[in-house]
Amino acid sequence: MRGAQAKRFQFQTQEARKRVGRIGKVILVGSGKGGVGKSFVACAIALSLSEHRCRTGILDIDIHGASVPDYLGVRPPLKSTRNGLEPKQSHGVKVMSVALLTGDNPIPMRGVDKQDLITQFLALTDWGRLDYLVVDLPPGTGDELLSAFDLFAGKSSLVLVTTPSRNAVAVVSRLRRLAETERVPVEGVVLNMAYIDEGRTRKTSPFGSTSKITLEAALDSTIISEIPLEPKVNSESLYKVLHGRNNTSVAFRRLVQRWTDKETRS
Ligand SMILES: Nc1ncnc2c1ncn2[C@@H]1O[C@H](COP(=O)(O)OP(=O)(O)OP(=O)(O)O)[C@@H](O)[C@H]1O
Ligand SMILES: [Mg+2]
Repeated sequence: MRGAQAKRFQFQTQEARKRVGRIGKVILVGSGKGGVGKSFVACAIALSLSEHRCRTGILDIDIHGASVPDYLGVRPPLKSTRNGLEPKQSHGVKVMSVALLTGDNPIPMRGVDKQDLITQFLALTDWGRLDYLVVDLPPGTGDELLSAFDLFAGKSSLVLVTTPSRNAVAVVSRLRRLAETERVPVEGVVLNMAYIDEGRTRKTSPFGSTSKITLEAALDSTIISEIPLEPKVNSESLYKVLHGRNNTSVAFRRLVQRWTDKETRS
């Protein structure tokens, strides 16, 4: 980074840290692996926390494949006030995504610029006070992820998402090790598309029937939630799915209790 750019970056980092100072807890949702349902899980966690009357925001830092606006039904443009960029609202959740700035345009960007963009984005967004900020991470272990680890250091923990497929599990355990090295606490693993619900007690496993114990050993982590393959996710709004009588809504309600119950106790 050159002089002027480095100075700007330093200023933005300070501003971003001030904004982060007003957030209670940051829940990073990542995988390493693409297409396993990170954005789906991140949005469902955010909606379920908001349902618990927690002040909740979601930040989508998937620069090349943002999908949070689709899950939560928000569209550009963003409004700017003297306090900064105003996040969009979806069922009580404050939503911010790079896609809300760029629309459908592709963003060609290299490493250091990505770090710059995420920091700038945080520095400019007027989240106000939040109990929880959920961060939807892109696939891979690149710059966006390292920026998030750095910017939210001390108040974040990582929720890993995987399907039970063998190669997804291998990639996810790599991210778990990276988080350990970077001293980011790992909450555990959300096993997505873990089974297909066929009514009553019948369940089939679309990715083979490896036992939970075997998967936990391979992941070297605890499975904190099992989410079914829910076809309605692709035809109804996520909010509607989470308000239906189905195992997906029950699983997310239970999952967020690991944070909200702590709050009630303290
Ligand atoms: N439990 C589920 N049941 C049914 N479909 C699902 C489920 N979870 C995710 N999907 C679908 O799988 C696809 C990928 O999900 P999603 O975009 O959330 O994954 P991702 O890990 O964020 O992907 P990327 O790596 O591209 O960011 C989407 O079409 C989504 O609707
Ligand atoms: Mg995604």
